[in-house]
Amino acid sequence: MAGLIERYREFLPVTDQTPVISLEEGNTPLIPAPRLSQAVGADVYLKYEGANPTGSFKDRGMTMAVSKAAEHGAKAVICASTGNTSASAAAYAARAGMQCIVLIPEGKVALGKLAQVALSGASIVQIEGNFDQCLDMVRYLSEHYPVELVNSVNPFRIDGQKTGAFEIVDALGNPPTYQAMPVGNAGNITAYWAGYKLYRDVGKTGALPTMLGFQAAGAAPIVHGAPVTHPETVATAIRIGNPASWKQAEVARDESGGTIQAVTDEEILEAYRFLSSKEGVFCEPASAAGVAGILRLGKEGFFKASDSIVCILTGNGLKDPQTAMRFSEEIAVMAPDGRALAEHLSLQPVG
Ligand code: F0G
Repeated sequence: MAGLIERYREFLPVTDQTPVISLEEGNTPLIPAPRLSQAVGADVYLKYEGANPTGSFKDRGMTMAVSKAAEHGAKAVICASTGNTSASAAAYAARAGMQCIVLIPEGKVALGKLAQVALSGASIVQIEGNFDQCLDMVRYLSEHYPVELVNSVNPFRIDGQKTGAFEIVDALGNPPTYQAMPVGNAGNITAYWAGYKLYRDVGKTGALPTMLGFQAAGAAPIVHGAPVTHPETVATAIRIGNPASWKQAEVARDESGGTIQAVTDEEILEAYRFLSSKEGVFCEPASAAGVAGILRLGKEGFFKASDSIVCILTGNGLKDPQTAMRFSEEIAVMAPDGRALAEHLSLQPVG
């Protein structure tokens, strides 16, 4: 199966001259979620973006951004990141034979993401500041030095990420009634809305979904209508106080008749655990923000039984092993003795 540039070439700004840098990203599972559907009171599907090559949705945008950078003759790419963008940029740059420079907020990037960048040969710098400050710095560097910016302010990132919407419509035949997702720097909600509109404009569907975005309560600038100077949340991927695509996120919300709301860290962790323990689906905490949001709206009676909802699970649970381990009970250590084991597990013998 080819990557998404090959599959959706007609909808993407590529030509025969574009060297396609691909790790066969996209084509991710759309998993029905029966227990979540029951809890929410509508038909819920999970778009499992953790199945992408570097474990997050960022690969959709990065295959486009790095392919176009290669077409322009770029020798180096640079990004600010809460982790996933850097893991993706590092992988696609390695594939393209380019240098990769990554700025991350000190001490606030999940272990799995750091591990990916560490092995890739990218130059990592931790900044004594937050993501927003890292983004200011990479913008400055890309304006004054020969390094291509591959954050979602690069329009090719948005083009690539539109393909998530195409895949959902291709799988369901139409958009869902609602799409729920986490919002951080707001590139992804911008991309999905553009993707759905493009698919409608070319006649692939007559309908559009209503967009539901969720920010972490400690990092909810769009909800409050003002930047957050010191964003804080367990969902480090969306620990962002001044999103670059703020206005576009509001456009997606308003044109679709949707809403952008805040969910608390408690709600995020509850949804994170629900997905793992009730659906067998392991995502990272930020990805669970959309699920936390629809669980709350479901309790408020927001949905009709005939509604369909797609939740974008943006990143793989393996990205953040330390947050998952907070839930682990003490793991027993035993001698290799079958009877003692049965007793430990409170198992009754058969017959
Ligand atoms: N979910 C995950 C797992 C993310 O990594 C991000 C963003 C988002 C949701 C939010 O998407 O920014 O398009 O609104 N991560 C960026 C990064 C900021 O650097 O990896 P968004």
